[in-house]
Amino acid sequence: MSETLENLLQEDRLFPPPAELAANANVTASAFDDAAADRLAFWADKAHRLDWSKEWDQVLDWSNPPFAKWFVGGRLNIAYNCLDRHVLNGIGDRVAIHWEGEPGDTRTITYADLHTEVCRAANALTDLGVTAGDRVAIYMPMIPEAAVAMLACARIGATHSVVFGGFSKDALAGRIRDASAKVVITADGGYRRGAPSALKPTVDESVAECPTIEKVLVVRRTGQDVDWQDGRDVWWHDVVDNASSEHEAQAFDAEHPLFILYTSGTTAKPKGILHTTGGYLTQASYTHHAVFDLKPENDVYWCTADIGWVTGHSYIVYGPLSNGATQVMYEGTPDTPHRGRFWEIVEKYKVTILYTAPTAIRTFAKWGDDIPAQFDLSSLRLLGSVGEPINPEAWMWYREHIGGDRCPIVDTWWQTETGAIMVSPLPGVTVTKPGSAMGPLPGISAEVVDDAGNPVGNGGGGYLVLNEPWPSMLRTIWGDDDRFIETYWSRFAAQGYYFAGDGAKKDDDGALWLLGRVDDVMLVSGHNISTTEVESALVAHAAVAEAAVVGATDPTTGQAIVAFVILRGGAEVDEATLREHVAKTLGPICKPRSIQVVAELPKTRSGKIMRRLLRDIAEKRTMGDVTTLQDSSVMDLISAGVQAGK
Ligand code: WT7
Repeated sequence: MSETLENLLQEDRLFPPPAELAANANVTASAFDDAAADRLAFWADKAHRLDWSKEWDQVLDWSNPPFAKWFVGGRLNIAYNCLDRHVLNGIGDRVAIHWEGEPGDTRTITYADLHTEVCRAANALTDLGVTAGDRVAIYMPMIPEAAVAMLACARIGATHSVVFGGFSKDALAGRIRDASAKVVITADGGYRRGAPSALKPTVDESVAECPTIEKVLVVRRTGQDVDWQDGRDVWWHDVVDNASSEHEAQAFDAEHPLFILYTSGTTAKPKGILHTTGGYLTQASYTHHAVFDLKPENDVYWCTADIGWVTGHSYIVYGPLSNGATQVMYEGTPDTPHRGRFWEIVEKYKVTILYTAPTAIRTFAKWGDDIPAQFDLSSLRLLGSVGEPINPEAWMWYREHIGGDRCPIVDTWWQTETGAIMVSPLPGVTVTKPGSAMGPLPGISAEVVDDAGNPVGNGGGGYLVLNEPWPSMLRTIWGDDDRFIETYWSRFAAQGYYFAGDGAKKDDDGALWLLGRVDDVMLVSGHNISTTEVESALVAHAAVAEAAVVGATDPTTGQAIVAFVILRGGAEVDEATLREHVAKTLGPICKPRSIQVVAELPKTRSGKIMRRLLRDIAEKRTMGDVTTLQDSSVMDLISAGVQAGK
């Protein structure tokens, strides 16, 4: 990106916080003043929301940037903070997890139950030879044992590396090898799209290539047949159920490695993002309290992410449990056995806070307004979004059709690397704009800068940087400090800023608009245009449910805008009308060269559009690596359609 981005979209709809929520909000505007007065004192205060067995000597050691140490000398146990202290405080009977299996089986797990189960699992892992500092890979479906496994590792100081259950043998083996994991925790399988989907065979194949693995701990979920290697494989119900439920949590150093989580890495070798203990839990816990305004006695919270992503780590396991939340956990897909499954779950458990992703919201909009309308969603009081920029029209759809026009929406920007939410409205404070993540949270410092690292000011566009360290920041890339520096700290080394690849603009009021990865920015006749903005303009047309836009090499304009759209159920529209619509919304420079109607878009397993593959199609190249695609047949469908001129 050589120049700053064009500032194209205009948004003047404003949504102030509901008066009642504002009056009772967990966090009010004074938090910004506190943080501005003394940022480190602010975070020390938030760290005091947790139980420490030893107080820290120093809040932040930033003497050797970019290697941060937070709460230096402090000691705590994460599982103690998520479980024991709640039981000791008399809330052991509170439901921690309402679990809903895809086939409709359910489990209700209280804090006392979860505590017992985690103690047993901690003892079992210890018996299997796992000690503090060892790495444990977790390759699980969305069942309560996934959370139990993570907490049991944390309890004994073992560093977990959760690998998404949809990943292949090579992805799992690569991650096990990179971290030299000693144990894998898995299941025979899980339910997806109405059928049992096996996990154990993939583990067997991976482990065959991974000599560091000593034990494979297997939960029986589906009951399907599994191959068994005596001496290596052990059933969870044998070793965990028979282990003692007494386990005293030992405190670990604030900088003890809590987990490694690999970023998807579409081209290069995946990066093992390392998070540690005290700073991570401080920010995961505080942001969950602040952004979702969680009232643990009354709320029923539901984050629909998979535990294999950072959202599942911070906002299913560590944030909510540290705050004593009651939450829903769902095993399966949103369309099984029918497209109203999510809304049926909201109605059944009277969910009050829902946290999901734009890709899901756009899919629901495509399926039709009539589906959520069949369910009672009146329990909802707050909605969240994460994972990608949310198009203004998708935001409006979410607000109207799910939030009944009354729930505030928090659009939360963060990354695997940031560990916890960084930029987001505060639901009781911020007047929101559809599609904007608004501004950094109290205690967080973010800026939009130009190529030279200078702030662009209101009305300008450029790169989103984080210009102060934050408690839940990644500490390094596992085993590769040089790559850590090179990847995140070299672009603005002179200023010492963290940059992880997102473009952003500040509107005239200073609100932040995330514009997607800078690699996705198009250069059309000398203008930098963001794919996100053109996509949002397309989605703003009544006929369009989803859009993906790429820049294709063009002999006259350098790059030309090529769009792929999915229409809403039953809608029809011609290409010329849509091209004109974009030109009218954003200006003639943004008129796409072509717009292709498609049935599906290529997405990663975490729901992000893979524009790289669409660029291959637009430029009529052989397609690149499709192994991280959720469904690789999608690409054949799209290219067949393009060739047929449909
Ligand atoms: C990238 C990080 C954070 C948990 C899930 C994804 C994009 C994420 C937003 C948002 C615009 C967003 C960014 C970021 N992103 N949230 N609210 N608005 N973009 O974690 O897989 O590490 O991806 O997701 O591009 O850099 P991740």
